[in-house]
Amino acid sequence: MEFIDLARKRWSCRTFEQQPVEPEKVARIVEAARVAPAAANRQPVRLAVAKTPEGLAKLAKAADLHGAPLAVVVCADAQRAWRRPCDGMRTDIVDATILADHMMLEAADGGLGSCLICWFDPSIVRRELALPEGLEPVIILVAGYAAERPASPERHNRARIPADELVFASL
Ligand SMILES: Cc1cc2nc3c(=O)[nH]c(=O)nc-3n(C[C@H](O)[C@H](O)[C@H](O)COP(=O)(O)O)c2cc1C
Repeated sequence: MEFIDLARKRWSCRTFEQQPVEPEKVARIVEAARVAPAAANRQPVRLAVAKTPEGLAKLAKAADLHGAPLAVVVCADAQRAWRRPCDGMRTDIVDATILADHMMLEAADGGLGSCLICWFDPSIVRRELALPEGLEPVIILVAGYAAERPASPERHNRARIPADELVFASL
């Protein structure tokens, strides 16, 4: 499948089968994260992979996981992140987001549904996962076999702004 077709096919899945995700697919998702780029290659991102009922139950105290059998908490360590010298902007959230996107697209390529979750209580995640000092949960990627009809790959025609609005300047 061409990349653009995979990107169009991916949708935010919020209903999952209870069937676990095979270890090989979980490993490929982690590998997709591992090879993602990071600013100055500082690699400030760490992952917590929840796939046991106990682990998922801990995370479900902080977020609606939509009943997914797999949840990857993408955490960032601000101290490890690159800072832009001219204004000090930290790139840890950007790095974390890129890893999450790599994983989401690998999940789609592996025939899984997935959804990025930012609506969670970070203090509960920190407590339940006993996160080391300095490690901040940024995004939770939930994934599994979809128990809902995939959204149409054509939906972006109406669900996204047109390209000439997205590209506000051509220089
Ligand atoms: C940074 C980010 C955070 C998101 N957080 C949530 C969330 O907390 N809960 C949720 O159900 N969906 C969440 N989503 C999914 C978006 O709502 C979804 O991507 C958007 O509505 C477009 O739909 P689509 O992904 O099916 O194309 C998030 C997406 C992104 C990119």
